[in-house]
Amino acid sequence: MKVTVVGAGAVGATCADNIVRREIAEELVLVDIKEGFAEGKALDLTQTASLLGFNTRITGVTGDYSKTAGSAVCVITSGIPRKPGMTREELIGTNAKIVENVAKSLLEYSPNAIIVVISNPMDTMTYLALKATGLPKNRVIGMGGILDSARFKTYLQKALDCSQSDLHATVIGGHGDTTMIPLTRLATLNGTPVSNFLSEDQLKQVAADTMVGGATLTKLLGTSAWYAPGAAGAALVESIVRNQKKVFPCCVALDGEYGQKDICLGVPVVIGSNGWEKIIDYKLNDAEQAEFNKSAEAVRNMNAVLDTL
Ligand code: LAC
Repeated sequence: MKVTVVGAGAVGATCADNIVRREIAEELVLVDIKEGFAEGKALDLTQTASLLGFNTRITGVTGDYSKTAGSAVCVITSGIPRKPGMTREELIGTNAKIVENVAKSLLEYSPNAIIVVISNPMDTMTYLALKATGLPKNRVIGMGGILDSARFKTYLQKALDCSQSDLHATVIGGHGDTTMIPLTRLATLNGTPVSNFLSEDQLKQVAADTMVGGATLTKLLGTSAWYAPGAAGAALVESIVRNQKKVFPCCVALDGEYGQKDICLGVPVVIGSNGWEKIIDYKLNDAEQAEFNKSAEAVRNMNAVLDTL
């Protein structure tokens, strides 16, 4: 199985690192536009093979998409990241053109690939990739909810003083500071609702911290995060490549599910070798559905900006 990661910046390189060290792919191609950059990252990663004990072959290329030919999964991380104080939405003008060109170039050489979009603003970039390529909807997946859910579990762990592996917690909706919806009602510790252990105020704080999880890191780091985004991207790729059928919240095209259509938004989906294979209905209550509708409205307004570019 061959996997391509476009964008050898911090998120792309960390995603690649996670993929190769766990031998999720037999072959990994890293692409960047900056001359020699992907080649350098690929060489550096290759020099970890004997230390970490993996056999994945890694190639780095500067804009040469012919080397990506025959990829089963292509991950797009290209574009500029946000700076402190910026929203993900402010990146739209720059990143839209990049993401569209990258998606088309990838499909020229890998017509059967499943496309994973990480570039921000992710919900709009996923919608753009779907529209610009005309791919069947199951083959375009935006990665945001897996990352946001990992952040949700981090804040739950802090509040509960537990192991993250005992937690199930999902963030749906958009991948934006005000559009994501941490589903506190459905979060569990070993199958028991976390509301049995945490007060309403504590749960509200966990949700609030989760929603600005990315912004908190951007402020600390001076640019956006990479360890968790890269690991989340690799987890998604793994479920596709190994046909694991994991349920992950991902940004996918909705056609009436969760009460929305003509939009890509985060909902729980089964991820396997066909991409996203089905949407799982978590049966939101009225308040959660209202939040979801509000999130959809914000993302729909952002999508409308694409027509003005
Ligand atoms: C973040 C970026 C990757 O949330 O959107 O860190």
